[in-house]
Amino acid sequence: MTDQTTTAASRITCGSLRLDDAGKTVTLQGWVHRRRDLGGLIFIDLRDRYGLTQIVFNPQDNPATHALASDVRNEYVLRAVGNVRPRPEGTINPKLPTGEIEVEVTDLDILNVAKTPPFEINQEGEVDENVRLRHRYLDLRRARMQRNVLLRHEMVKFMREFLYARDFIEVETPNLIKSTPEGARDFLVPSSGFPGNYYALPQSPQQLKQLLMVAGYDRYFQVARCFRDEPQRADRQPEFTQLDIEMSFVQQQDVMSLIEELYIDLIGKYSSKHLQQVPFPRITYAESMRRFGNDRPDLRFGVELQDLSDALRGTGFNAFAQTLAGGGQVKAIVAPGCADYTRREIDELTEMAKRSGAKGLATIAVKADEIRSPIAKFLSPDELVAMTTGIGAAPGDLVLAVADSPSVVAKTLSALRTEIGSRLNLADPTEFACCWVYEFPMLEFNEDENRWEATHNPFSGFLEEDAHLLDSAPEKVRAKQYDLVGNGNELGGGSVRNHRRADQEKLMQLMGYPKEELHARFGALLDALDYGAPPHGGIAMGIDRIVMLLADEGNIREVIAFPKNQRGIDMMFEAPNRVEQSQLDDLGIVLDPKKIVALWD
Ligand code: AMO
Ligand code: AMP
Repeated sequence: MTDQTTTAASRITCGSLRLDDAGKTVTLQGWVHRRRDLGGLIFIDLRDRYGLTQIVFNPQDNPATHALASDVRNEYVLRAVGNVRPRPEGTINPKLPTGEIEVEVTDLDILNVAKTPPFEINQEGEVDENVRLRHRYLDLRRARMQRNVLLRHEMVKFMREFLYARDFIEVETPNLIKSTPEGARDFLVPSSGFPGNYYALPQSPQQLKQLLMVAGYDRYFQVARCFRDEPQRADRQPEFTQLDIEMSFVQQQDVMSLIEELYIDLIGKYSSKHLQQVPFPRITYAESMRRFGNDRPDLRFGVELQDLSDALRGTGFNAFAQTLAGGGQVKAIVAPGCADYTRREIDELTEMAKRSGAKGLATIAVKADEIRSPIAKFLSPDELVAMTTGIGAAPGDLVLAVADSPSVVAKTLSALRTEIGSRLNLADPTEFACCWVYEFPMLEFNEDENRWEATHNPFSGFLEEDAHLLDSAPEKVRAKQYDLVGNGNELGGGSVRNHRRADQEKLMQLMGYPKEELHARFGALLDALDYGAPPHGGIAMGIDRIVMLLADEGNIREVIAFPKNQRGIDMMFEAPNRVEQSQLDDLGIVLDPKKIVALWD
């Protein structure tokens, strides 16, 4: 047996042997990665998570062992004792770290047999994701998943050490709590002790980490699991992991600088991508919306939004004139080199614009000797110049313009900018472009519910200079809220909080929580603010997302050991599932038969 107490450096594994070890007798344990029977000699690549080692069975020297090896199949678990020797001339494998040696086996134990796996473990080929997830323990044996799991481990370790070195302490907070307002639906857990009562799984440890600040633990962090019942996307899971941080006596820039230092180190250490700009640019929300139409811009390419409203104010083109008269905007982007787009390609972009809510998409193709545009005939020569050369469109380019309310214009052109960026491969895949977006609006009006709500976090503080707008123009109040964005992804977000009860209550009243509800939902935190709460702020970074980006994966499921599938289903354990009637009886739960979904029958 391997001595379990040996240190990593001296442990013998399927990845550790080198030419220096020739002559040693070793014991290797692992899985059969590949087996070749060369009519006489049998070669097996034995695999563990450290690597592959070629082990050899010679019928002359060890006939019994050789006979046993003839029965071995892929994924069998072996223990092999043998002698390390240099590989013969011409058989060295420079691609394997152990490629200069092989182990001639003298003694073999088959520790376990294995059925033929539902997909090849030793190949990278595409496999249906649900099949991979159903047998995730096999999928995790494959090289790509191993790389991702180990990368994630290294990155989280690095985060922890970075924070330990700066006086942060790790505190665990409960998962059975009460509803937290992060904007998604809660996962509920019924209480059997108190039928009719429910815990909620935390959408984040937000209130708990603030309470830790009140308790005086001025630098907290946690690798925290968060639960949100919301539609799945490539970068979202119903349970995901945050690097959750809170600090006392800090300003926005203190939190931003800390995270910036961590992420510069992290990206430098774990990615071959180079950082586009250091320090990370800081862009206000207003500027980001103006230039990119969204609050998580991909800064790896231009194609910025340009405002044509002033140039077109007196236009004879009705769609534009009416929009401008009604307080709307006309903005455009220039798609470089797209002047020859076909009718079909333009229709696709128009469809896309309409899906974003736009009424139409105006296009102007700038050719070497002419302008092609369905709206040219409605525009004066000056207006046409403003819409082309005026915004930098050169011969060969295509202008895409939208007239609508500012929010529809932003949404549409942001989607088109992303589309053009990906069609033309404008984003350099070797680059990592981070930026901070800050000064978000504190509140936005929810038309459906007829009340103001927090754009991010109801506990965010607001800029003192905007306090006077709270009653007169709540939409103009800027929050002390900041998001870190990387290559167009929201990597994390946080804020400096309200540490005075009056400010927090004022905001919550604006958000339309009646006093009783305020107490029921946020009583603990509000009360705590009365007992000497220090100024504090923090942030939460999406760990799955940063690992996904540095692993160059397009989907966070690839960097989570046991993820749910796209429908939020655990394919391996087959959850969610129906439970015993007796369990429901204990909880006092009666199901509506009309609502029951038969997921597994
Ligand atoms: P927020 O809701 O912005 O902030 O979340 C912080 C970061 O967590 C990641 N994230 C997700 N990752 C995977 N799947 C999801 N469903 C998911 N949802 C969010 C994102 C996001 O930027 N309490 C505040 C933080 C604070 O103010 O300190 C919060 O949770 O990368
Ligand atoms: P119409 O006058 O409706 O035939 O539109 C002429 C062109 O202007 C078409 O290419 C429409 O897609 C485009 N268009 C119409 N409304 C808008 C709008 N609000 N913003 C941008 N383009 C528009």
